[in-house]
Amino acid sequence: MGSPSTEIFARNWSIYQEVSKCNYMSHHDFFNEIRSFFQEKPVDDKPLDVLDCGCGDAWMLSKLLKGRNVNSFTGYDMSETALSYAQKNLKPLECYLSLLGGPMEKLIKKADKDFDLIYSSFAIHHLQDEEKKIFLADLYNHLKIGGTLIVIDIMRDDTLDRHEYLEEYIENIGMTWHTVTESDKELVYDHIRNFDFPAKTSEFISWLEERRFSITEKYEPDSRNVMITATKQ
Ligand SMILES: C[S@@+](CC[C@H](N)C(=O)[O-])C[C@H]1O[C@@H](n2cnc3c(N)ncnc32)[C@H](O)[C@@H]1O
Repeated sequence: MGSPSTEIFARNWSIYQEVSKCNYMSHHDFFNEIRSFFQEKPVDDKPLDVLDCGCGDAWMLSKLLKGRNVNSFTGYDMSETALSYAQKNLKPLECYLSLLGGPMEKLIKKADKDFDLIYSSFAIHHLQDEEKKIFLADLYNHLKIGGTLIVIDIMRDDTLDRHEYLEEYIENIGMTWHTVTESDKELVYDHIRNFDFPAKTSEFISWLEERRFSITEKYEPDSRNVMITATKQ
């Protein structure tokens, strides 16, 4: 299972692991922010049904959910390689596990349950804007009342068009991803130029609001990556 847009993750998952480990895309900051968010919520009496769209190896959520009352974890990803890592990382949650290979925007339409927590990190930017809007509507339809949506992604501010944002992103990679080899960086640049379609943050928020999500937080640890949390009331 896969497509050219996910090839880099299937063949080179170790590059992405290095990027996460070294915090080049602020993974550590997002991790801490979500951990605080979870700590503010009392441990739920009722077991959580969790959906992770574009879960990759699910390492972050698997760590954040450890010790919480998780009933089920559903993960969608186009990369079978990533899903095999996710299977191992999620085992300690000791919950019902459903890891499905394929496009999340299609799989969500077939989902036969609703979720307490829907999470997606660094995956939605692979969709075109029209697809993103439809996808967000489908997420809303599958979020339980009182449930939480957490989206982490690359997003741009109103002043930058896609080309300007991506070239600035690439320039920053060149200057700061010190432990990634030049040939691996070239693979990343190629992937970004061909397959990344970051939304404007302001538009993304307005699409959520149009779908009647209530925005609860916008967190920007740097100028390139954003986390937005929302609820369904
Ligand atoms: C940058 S990785 C992020 C992985 C993980 N969410 C994280 O933050 O560590 C992007 C992931 O999204 C997956 N992906 C990209 N487009 C997808 C789509 N349309 N449907 C499902 N998965 C997709 C890729 O295979 C990859 O595992």
